[in-house]
Amino acid sequence: MPALVVIGSQWGDEGKGKVVDVFSSQSDYVVRYQGGSNAGHTLIVDGKKTVLHLVPSGVLHPNTKCIISTGVVLDIETLVQEIKALKANGLLQNDEQLLISDTATVLLSYHRRLDQAREQDAKNEKIGTTGKGIGPAYEDRASRKAILFGDLFSPDKLKEKLKKSIDEKNFLLEHKYKEEPVDIDKLFTDIQGWTEELRPYRCKNSPYEIHQALKADKKVLFEGAQGTLLDLLHGTYPFVTSSSTISGSACIGSGVGPNQIDKIVGITKAYTTRVGSGPFPTELDDEVGTHLGTVGHEFGATTGRKRRCGWLDLVALKYAIRINGITNLALMKIDVLSGLETVKLCTDYKVNGEKTSVYPTTPGDLSEVEPIYKEVPGWSEDISNAKSLQDLPANARSLISLIGAEVGIPIDVISVGPGRKQTIWVKPLF
Ligand code: IMP
Repeated sequence: MPALVVIGSQWGDEGKGKVVDVFSSQSDYVVRYQGGSNAGHTLIVDGKKTVLHLVPSGVLHPNTKCIISTGVVLDIETLVQEIKALKANGLLQNDEQLLISDTATVLLSYHRRLDQAREQDAKNEKIGTTGKGIGPAYEDRASRKAILFGDLFSPDKLKEKLKKSIDEKNFLLEHKYKEEPVDIDKLFTDIQGWTEELRPYRCKNSPYEIHQALKADKKVLFEGAQGTLLDLLHGTYPFVTSSSTISGSACIGSGVGPNQIDKIVGITKAYTTRVGSGPFPTELDDEVGTHLGTVGHEFGATTGRKRRCGWLDLVALKYAIRINGITNLALMKIDVLSGLETVKLCTDYKVNGEKTSVYPTTPGDLSEVEPIYKEVPGWSEDISNAKSLQDLPANARSLISLIGAEVGIPIDVISVGPGRKQTIWVKPLF
């Protein structure tokens, strides 16, 4: 089983980083293929916390090669800081462990500034972006104005492309948002410094590198960022991110064919969270919502924003299973449900008085639905040290079986806490 994709099946923050970290010990390669520093993958090893934004979560395993591939928008300033922090913590000691694709899109300060200026200007219609410049950077790629990572190594070409890319942004910053324009000369000098820091990681042909690995039967893990419902085309548009977050994006963003992928692992929390604006049918504004947020430490790893919390939405999860082709599920943070008298699962929606189990994809329709719940008894025991299904209380086991039966996909991994060892492997995946 050499190629496996790990994706989030909700609105992000499902715990993909932990799953990828655990799988990485058995992987030869981990490939990040979309998104940028809007992602925040939290890893806790021996009680020590590492938050990664751009470097693939496989970095904690010295024998695993990490590739940042073409589909990523690469904030080079942030990446340099992230690499320095990893090195200061004794990680990423070997430069050959990280490869950055020459064809990844470079994200610079003006993308961030434009993203933030737009959000500020939007007043009541904010998307609630992370302010990391993701939208403007992908716009550059689509409008053929992007600077690619490989361009950084040809200063003349870079200067020319920088001027072209900044021209319109400066017009917007100065005249629409009444802000200071970008100082191109200063930025150019800064870029040269960052480029030297990143030079050791340059990969001129990342699709070829990945193909060679697959051909040699190496284990390659494709690490998704954000979640299915934030997908640019299939998410809750316009309250989505600017990249494709579904499993197909692993192929597009890294340059491999769909027939190369063997398994697609969907990561889902035992409840739901969302950061930023947009519809959220099972959202809770009561003490259960507070319990989930507090016990689950539901604050954004990138922005520190409080996450909105609600019950697990199986209608949305079944949609995620369909559009990603999910073959196996990992159920995360089930320990957070400990102490709740009852647990609810949204099994259907009511739309205009009619019951349906079909997730609506038309923008706006999701805000009209009313969730229909199945309620099951909870448990009070602390389950954070459970090592096998048998260690779980009967009610927790019933809940897991019920979720698996409702969605028709095996739950092969159950996470009962943030640590690597707080994981129940129902079935080996890799
Ligand atoms: P952007 O990706 O910064 O443009 O933000 C667009 C939407 O995606 C906002 O609702 C963000 O809160 C959300 N978002 C982006 N990245 C993440 C993530 O890693 N986890 C959860 N939500 C995210």
